[in-house]
Order: sequence, then structure tokens, then C-alpha cells
Amino acid sequence: MPVETSPARLMKVREALASREVPLLAFLLTDLDNIGYVTGFTGSTAQVIITPEEALFITDSRYTVQAARDCVGFTLMETPRGSGGYGEALQNVLKERPAIQALGFEAANVTVAAWEKLRELSPEVEWVGTESIVENLRMVKDAGEIAAIRRAIAVAEAAFLSVKHLLVPGTREQDFALELEYAMRRGGAEGTAFESIVASGTLGARPHHHAGPRPFAVGDFVTIDWGASVDGYNSDITRTVGIGAVTLRQREIYAVVLEAQRLAIAAVRPGANGKEIDAVARDYITAQGFGDAFGHSLGHSLGRDVHDGPGLSIRGEGLILAPGMVLTVEPGIYLEDWGGVRIEEDILVTETGCEVLTSLPNGLEVV
Ligand code: GLY
Repeated sequence: MPVETSPARLMKVREALASREVPLLAFLLTDLDNIGYVTGFTGSTAQVIITPEEALFITDSRYTVQAARDCVGFTLMETPRGSGGYGEALQNVLKERPAIQALGFEAANVTVAAWEKLRELSPEVEWVGTESIVENLRMVKDAGEIAAIRRAIAVAEAAFLSVKHLLVPGTREQDFALELEYAMRRGGAEGTAFESIVASGTLGARPHHHAGPRPFAVGDFVTIDWGASVDGYNSDITRTVGIGAVTLRQREIYAVVLEAQRLAIAAVRPGANGKEIDAVARDYITAQGFGDAFGHSLGHSLGRDVHDGPGLSIRGEGLILAPGMVLTVEPGIYLEDWGGVRIEEDILVTETGCEVLTSLPNGLEVV
């Protein structure tokens, strides 16, 4: 899987536009993850217009120097320094290019108010909402992206190991989260991939619990779901750890989740669809009597975004797995007034199955 260059990605976008049922020639990109993917830009504001002949990169004065370095093959334009901003820049581009009669835009990234403004500024153009044009291209990662995800995993795992000694009675959820996040930053992360989840005792029944003031206590399961962002790519890992001592029921439920994950990972292969793999874990958990306690999807695509596209879920029929896709596999069981267990690995689909990218042991640990 070679590292793709911006011109290669630009060509793929043009091909995707041309192969639509109603082909599109001109396309406005506003989603920053998509812009970063196509252009290499790492700043926080930009828009891009792609036509068969041109690739225009528009940003404000704070980023023009950086964009000139990052965005090879794009014509750089600065937004007007008055109040008009991107709307005025776009209006000027369209006025100077009357051949652009229809302009695709990323419907999921443009508010109704912004769309109305665009139509008001350039009523002569047909504005065509599109879905997932670049997101679909992003599903299969190239070697550079996979290497960045590996670095994001390594930073997150090292950070966890460095703060694991804090998994003791008395440590508050929010303090553990803070130490973990600090360790990730110190270890080279640009930031956290998302707000770290630390859910202890009965609070573990909430899959996305906000780490709060509850101190860990003997007998707790603590579910920690964390990730690092490194070079623009994310990791996403979950471990559930016992504090001091656990009951037989805790062991049994942990074993069900772990086996569901093992079965699902063993089933991953190119050509399988996301629903099939979800069903492997879901059917096993259901057969063990916990089907109602596994409410979320088995996993999601992982990359520039933490939820980087479709994934392994009951709605995942349309996702056909292919080598180079990176996904999470994260079954869970959540019981109100009891707590929860979730175990999450990041995997890379290969030619023959998958490689598990995460390396922390995932057997039950009681610390
Ligand atoms: N691990 C957090 C999430 O998947 O949203």
C-alpha cells in the first residue's frame, strides 16, 4: 500500500465526481478532514474548489504561508480582507468561471443558513448537495495513514501503561482521565482523540459516561475508553479492569465480551460486510443471554476522524471490507445498577483477514 500524494488523491476525487449517476464537474470542499486528506493542509480553516482543470485552495491570511508549503498542486487564494470572507471569495471564483453551471457541495458539512447564503450570492449556479464523496475514498488507508494510526495507538498504549498504577481504590474517575490525557500529550499526541471515558462501578452501565468525581472502590469494574491523535490520525482503545477483587458474575460477563470480540475479529476478511461481522459478536452475546445489553454497533472506521465512516453495525450491509480499512471492534455489555464491560481493539483489514493493531493484553486484569 504506497503513500498517496495529493495529486493522486485529487485525481481520485475527480474520478468519483465523474462516475456519479449525474456526473459533477465542479466541487466545493468545506469539511476540514476531507480538505486535509486531499490537500495535505493541517490548518483550521479553508475551502477548496475542484474542477477538471483547476484545484483552488482558499484560506485566510493566517494560513497562506503554511498552505503554500502544504498544498502542492493547488492554486492558493486568500479570502478578501473585508467582511465577505469565503462567500465573497467563492462568488468571485464563480463570476470569473461562467462555465461552472453546477457546483457540488458537501451537504453534511453545510448548514441550511450557509447554503441559503451561497444560493443568494451565486444564484446563477445550481448547488448540488453530495454525500460522502471524499469520505468513501478515505475508508481505505494508505501506508502513511496506517503508520500514523500505529503511532497514535503506540502513544495511547504507552500512556495507559504509565498511569495504570493509579487504578486503585480512591482514585477519582476524572483524575485518572486527566493523568491519562496528560501522559498522551507528553508522549507526543497533538491531543486526545475524544473526551476520555472512565466509567467505574455501576456508572459503567453508561457506554459514554463522562469521567466524574466518583472514586474507584474495591470490586469495581472500570471501563476506560481513550485514544490519542498523532499526525492527524486517531487511536481508540477500551479496556475494562477490575479493582481489587471481582465476582464470578463479573468474570463471566467479561469472558462473554472477550469471546464475542475474538469471534468477530476472526471473521473479518475482505469481501465480508459490516453487518455480517457485527452479527458474529451480537449473535454470540445474544446466545449468552445479554443481547438487550449490547445496544451500540460493534465498531466504526477509524482515521482522521474517530468515527471515520461506516462501520460494523446492524446497518453495515453497505460496507464491504477491503484491505487497508482500519476499524474498531468493541463489543460491550451494559447492565443498569450493575455496570458494564467493553473491550476495544483497532484492526487493519488485510488481504487474508485482519491484523490487530492494538497490543495491550485484553484478558481480565484485576489490579
Ligand atoms: N471510543 C469513543 C467512541 O467511539 O465514540
